Amino acid sequence: MTDKSALVLGGAGFIGSHLAAALCKTNFKVTIIDGLLAHTGGDKCNLDALGLDNAELVFERVERIHDLTEIVESSDFIFDLMALTSHQFGFENLAIDADLNLMPHIALIMAMKEASYRGHVVYFGSRGQYGAVSDSPFDEASPLHPLDPQGIHKTAAERLFEVYSRRVGFSCDSLRITNCYGPRQKIKGDEVGLVAQFIRDLLLGREVQIFGSGERTKDLLFVDDLVHTILQLVETARGGFQPLNVGGRPVSISDLLEILQEKCKKGSYSVKPFPDDLLQSDTGDAIMCTQLLEGIIGSNLRCSDLSESLGITVIDIRNRLELGH
Ligand SMILES: NC(=O)c1ccc[n+]([C@@H]2O[C@H](COP(=O)([O-])OP(=O)(O)OC[C@H]3O[C@@H](n4cnc5c(N)ncnc54)[C@H](O)[C@@H]3O)[C@@H](O)[C@H]2O)c1
Repeated sequence: MTDKSALVLGGAGFIGSHLAAALCKTNFKVTIIDGLLAHTGGDKCNLDALGLDNAELVFERVERIHDLTEIVESSDFIFDLMALTSHQFGFENLAIDADLNLMPHIALIMAMKEASYRGHVVYFGSRGQYGAVSDSPFDEASPLHPLDPQGIHKTAAERLFEVYSRRVGFSCDSLRITNCYGPRQKIKGDEVGLVAQFIRDLLLGREVQIFGSGERTKDLLFVDDLVHTILQLVETARGGFQPLNVGGRPVSISDLLEILQEKCKKGSYSVKPFPDDLLQSDTGDAIMCTQLLEGIIGSNLRCSDLSESLGITVIDIRNRLELGH
């Protein structure tokens, strides 16, 4: 139980809506800012029926909010989930990628500087910041060699949080998160998350295409487990800047598809050679070491049953397809 205040930027998106709901349940006073931007998972429907009655909702791009400094000043915790998560779209639209994956964080950092902010920030980075890594598992000291605009802009934003945390005096955890899945993940458009795309295509009776080989491993994290870990993390009052790997469970793509086919009862899959453009930005199979984060929260990362959590995700996507969302 707490009477602290939390600002959730990108709170109408996939992960943000789960986090905001969990913070409300834990009695945080929550303010959500979300621009509901095109090409993102931002959608007011994500906030329906989540028990967010006590949350304040601001549907505007963060860069356009005139009293952002005051909002920041009154927030004990700031969760920055603002992003454009489409990798290939970023290659084709480099300026838009910078506009969504770098500029909003600069606007936030400037407001924190203006407010002389001394609270705690959780920045949502990604595993993609590392690029292709040969060692597995690899820890936070591994070099960052992002292979796409999103990874480059997210890394630049992370570095700005690091530098300004020292200059301004706020503390910051930068979460380098693996592939996440669960209810409310974006299913519209060509480029959606791996698990959501597989489920959507199977439910629509399409043939899912796997590139390379079904033996390739993906590190998968259920959104409830991610939120659980974040709530544990904010309980640990620490100063300074800390990058933290947030991994999940390694699963081969063929095992994943076998479970999903059984749950969806539709669709098929085939294995195709990797297209050149995708191969150049493929980050490979290496798994993140999560010992640092586990040491801080004092337990192993929660890892829900794979079949059960995928089943929950299938039901959500089936419902949304039926409703035409
Ligand atoms: N989903 C995953 O598998 C995954 C994996 C690793 C890291 N992450 C990171 O977690 C965070 C959340 O991801 P998600 O999957 O929930 O994405 P999402 O697209 O569902 O949510 C992002 C939200 O940010 C909002 N937004 C973007 N720019 C904004 C701005 N300038 N002002 C206000 N709102 C803005 C969008 O409208 C959207 O609602 C992102 O930083 C993402 O890179 C996600």
